[in-house]
Amino acid sequence: MLLIVADPPYLGRANRWYGDGRGHSDGRGRADDHPEAREWDRPEAHIALVDRLEAEADGWAIAATPASLPLYLEHAPAGVRVAVWLKENAIPSGSRIRPVWEPVLIRVPQGRTAHGTGVAVDDALSAGLTAGGFAGRKPAAWTHWVLAMLGFNPDVDELVDAFPGSGAVATAAANYSNPGTTSTRRREVPATQAQQLRRTARGSRSRRAAVLAALRAGGSVRAVAAEAGVSTNTVQRWKHEAGLTGANAAAVDS
Ligand SMILES: C[S@@+](CC[C@H](N)C(=O)[O-])C[C@H]1O[C@@H](n2cnc3c(N)ncnc32)[C@H](O)[C@@H]1O
Repeated sequence: MLLIVADPPYLGRANRWYGDGRGHSDGRGRADDHPEAREWDRPEAHIALVDRLEAEADGWAIAATPASLPLYLEHAPAGVRVAVWLKENAIPSGSRIRPVWEPVLIRVPQGRTAHGTGVAVDDALSAGLTAGGFAGRKPAAWTHWVLAMLGFNPDVDELVDAFPGSGAVATAAANYSNPGTTSTRRREVPATQAQQLRRTARGSRSRRAAVLAALRAGGSVRAVAAEAGVSTNTVQRWKHEAGLTGANAAAVDS
């Protein structure tokens, strides 16, 4: 299948960050100097993008902003889903109500929507922005989440990163292994912890504790999620909340 991830210049911010606009001020922080960036400050460009992706691709994703969401939804075909990226470390803005999330429109390919057609994945992701560098660069966790929602399988799908920018999306995609398939990176959960995971009740605090114990014992996120019957996003979130980083993260990374 052909899958397209589109992370276009955001409506109303295109020339500012990717054209000859002001960036933070006096051009500071501007990431690019694209001669046609201004085009993306027109709603028509975003509507045409939806039409193009729908015509060309089997599945697609568009990164957007809360302000542009009504426009996209007005023109998106039925069946398109909205997923939420919560930017844990969003930069404070001048607004009283601080914007800390971004929508992602997702067109899941036919045959990949039903339960059991792929790995379970949440329609919300909490992940921090990568500090510094190219304005608008997406963290690897964002790309992996989007690809999981699309049911991306590198063995059978062709993936297009329609707005490469820093190249972060393509780089993360190259490191992606389909969580639904067995990979050499999957580390099984040791038997004692696996037993404990199966014994604990779904949604209970002890399930969370058992998940963390299994991660500490060396199980990968994917293997632990599968044993616990929860999504990899949930395990990632618990892992993050428990501060399993650094040396531990190497042992438990998916
Ligand atoms: C939001 S950024 C993409 C960021 C990228 N996903 C990343 O993680 O680094 C949008 C990109 O679209 C480029 N762009 C701007 N105007 C464009 C145009 N008219 N046609 C194609 N690309 C354009 C910008 O220069 C910028 O590199």
